[in-house]
Amino acid sequence: MRDVDPKARIAGVFDRAAPTYEQTGVEFYGPPGRALVAHAGITTGERVLDLGCGRGNVFFPAAAAVGPTGTVVGVDFAPVMRRLTTEAAKDLPWVRVTAGDAEYPDFPPCSFDVVTAGFMIFFMPDPAAAVARWAGLLRPGGRLAISTFAESMTAGTTFYADRAAALAPFQRPEQALAGDAREEHDAQRDRVRGWFDRADLTGVTMTELTVRSHYPSADAYWAWWLSVGARRQLERVPPHRVPAARAAITEVLDKHLRHPGGGYLSETPMRLTVARRPG
Ligand SMILES: C[S@@+](CC[C@H](N)C(=O)[O-])C[C@H]1O[C@@H](n2cnc3c(N)ncnc32)[C@H](O)[C@@H]1O
Repeated sequence: MRDVDPKARIAGVFDRAAPTYEQTGVEFYGPPGRALVAHAGITTGERVLDLGCGRGNVFFPAAAAVGPTGTVVGVDFAPVMRRLTTEAAKDLPWVRVTAGDAEYPDFPPCSFDVVTAGFMIFFMPDPAAAVARWAGLLRPGGRLAISTFAESMTAGTTFYADRAAALAPFQRPEQALAGDAREEHDAQRDRVRGWFDRADLTGVTMTELTVRSHYPSADAYWAWWLSVGARRQLERVPPHRVPAARAAITEVLDKHLRHPGGGYLSETPMRLTVARRPG
């Protein structure tokens, strides 16, 4: 089996998602991005590092919060994400997007007031070690703010299991890759708290929100699915099998997500965790 660098593979998936990421008309990552900036209390003049900035769902609200007297540095390893976010930020001279590996951010210690990481910690092979490195980039009293899916995302629902089962017959087998992001993106409350505690971060607050996403049609759902990192599940379906796979997924949508007002509605529990470096 050909050995593919897991990070290059993940970056490739996000590059292919980038043109439509949070751009299909379905709100998914926008609301938690804005909420993370609010919960972190990001304010005028602060220096913010946004790890895994993607198309800027955290980055742009942070840029608005710090204003021209502050700075926001976005880091992403996916070139198309970086290019599109850089273009969108062209009128904001106090922000910049840079290439880098968020697992090992290359910045001096104590150089930021706030470090944010929106829906990317599950790509870290050792999340506790990553959180400890991120905490070291904060000035004393600075805040680390991350967003994750809440474990209740899968509790009490068979939607994701049914969706996976419906797609499986159409998928090519996946190469097993060490370090590949977990399919299971839930970050259980106690695990997240453990990462923060081990990094000696204090005053941990956890806030849950449920994001309601409306998909006007099954086509809209498919287009949205292709716009997020989970598109890699669809990339395993050979083109000639896509129509049948779509029909199978529509049945699952009809079973689980039908909205009385038309189309489909998903409700996704998410968690924002914020804590402070002592001092
Ligand atoms: C799910 S997206 C989240 C984007 C954005 N933070 C948001 O909340 O919408 C994850 C992003 O993290 C980036 N990413 C994942 N692992 C990374 C790493 N090790 N270094 C840099 N970027 C990474 C991906 O390229 C992608 O843009």
